[in-house]
Amino acid sequence: MKGKTVVITGANEGIGLSTAKRLAAKGAHLILACRDERKGLNAAGAITERTDNRSIVVIPMDLSDLASIQAGAEFIMTEHPKVDVLVNNAGVFTNQLHLTAQGYELQFGVNHLGHFLLTQLLLPALQCPDEGGRIINVSSAAHHHGKIDFQNLRGEYGSKRYSGTRAYSQSKLANILFTKELARRYAEDVTANCLHPGVVGTRFANKQANPLVSLIWTMYKPFARHPKKGADTSVYLAASPEVRDVSGRYFDQCQCVRRPAAIAHDEDLAAKLWDYSENAVRDYLD
Ligand SMILES: NC(=O)c1ccc[n+]([C@@H]2O[C@H](COP(=O)([O-])OP(=O)(O)OC[C@H]3O[C@@H](n4cnc5c(N)ncnc54)[C@H](OP(=O)(O)O)[C@@H]3O)[C@@H](O)[C@H]2O)c1
Repeated sequence: MKGKTVVITGANEGIGLSTAKRLAAKGAHLILACRDERKGLNAAGAITERTDNRSIVVIPMDLSDLASIQAGAEFIMTEHPKVDVLVNNAGVFTNQLHLTAQGYELQFGVNHLGHFLLTQLLLPALQCPDEGGRIINVSSAAHHHGKIDFQNLRGEYGSKRYSGTRAYSQSKLANILFTKELARRYAEDVTANCLHPGVVGTRFANKQANPLVSLIWTMYKPFARHPKKGADTSVYLAASPEVRDVSGRYFDQCQCVRRPAAIAHDEDLAAKLWDYSENAVRDYLD
C-alpha cells in the first residue's frame, strides 16, 4: 500500500481503527475522517506508535451534517487530489428517533446519506489512480431484515412508531443498494464493494442504544469477533490484488457472498434510492 492514499470514516475506534492500523502497517498514507478531531488525533498517535507510519492526517467530519462532509471533502480534494481507497466505515445504532442536521433519520442519514455525499464528492479523486479507486462500504448482515421506506426517511411516523433495529437494517440495506448502483454507474472508473464484518466486539451498541440493548451487547461481546479480526474483510478489499477488478459484490470473511438478501438485488429500488439520495444532498454537491 506504499504510495496509496486511503480515506477511512469513523477511524478513531472499533473496526475503523483496526482497519487504519493494518493499512498503516502496510505503508498507506491515511486520512482519518472523524466526528471528533481530538479522538481522531489520539487514534493517529496510537497508530504511529504501533506502526511507525507518520503519514496520517485527521480531518473533522460529522456524517450527520452534510455541510461538515462538504467541508471535509473539499479539504481532501485540495490536499490529496488522488485517492486510491475510500472506506465508508462509520456507523451509528440508536433505539430513539434522532434527526440529522438536515432533518433525516439519524441512522439513514449517517450510515447511508452521509457516505453517499462523501463518495460523490471524492469521485473525481477516486477516478485518478491508474488502477481505478476502490470504494468499500461497511454494511451488515442486518440488511437481511431491511426494506427502504421512502415515506419515513425523515422520521415522519414519529418517535412512538420508531424502531431502531428496523432503521438500522434499512440503512445497511441502503449500503448494499448504493454499492451495486455505484458499480453499475462507474464500472469503467472505480470498483465498489460492500461487506459484513461479522459480529464484532466493539462499543457500537454501547453508545446510543438504550440501557437494555447496551447491557445485552456488553454480555455478548466476549463471544464476538475481536475488532482486529473484524477489520479482515475491509483490509482485504482495500489491499488485495485478488479483488482489483471485482465490483458490485457483498463480502463476508473475505469471501464474495453470491446472494445477499433478494431485495439487495433490486435494480429499480437501487436506482430509486440513488435518485432520492442525490436529491437530498443536491445543495452540497458543488
Ligand atoms: N460491531 C459489529 O458487530 C458490526 C456488525 C455489522 C456491521 N458493523 C458496522 O461496522 C461499522 C463500524 O462499527 P464498529 O462496530 O466499529 O462501531 P464503533 O466502534 O462504534 O465505531 C463507529 C465509528 O463511527 C463513528 N461515527 C458514528 N457516528 C458518526 C458521525 N455522525 N459522524 C462521523 N463518524 C461517526 C464513530 O465515531 P465516535 O467515536 O465519535 O462515536 C466511530 O468512530 C459500522 O458501519 C457498523 O454498522 C458492525
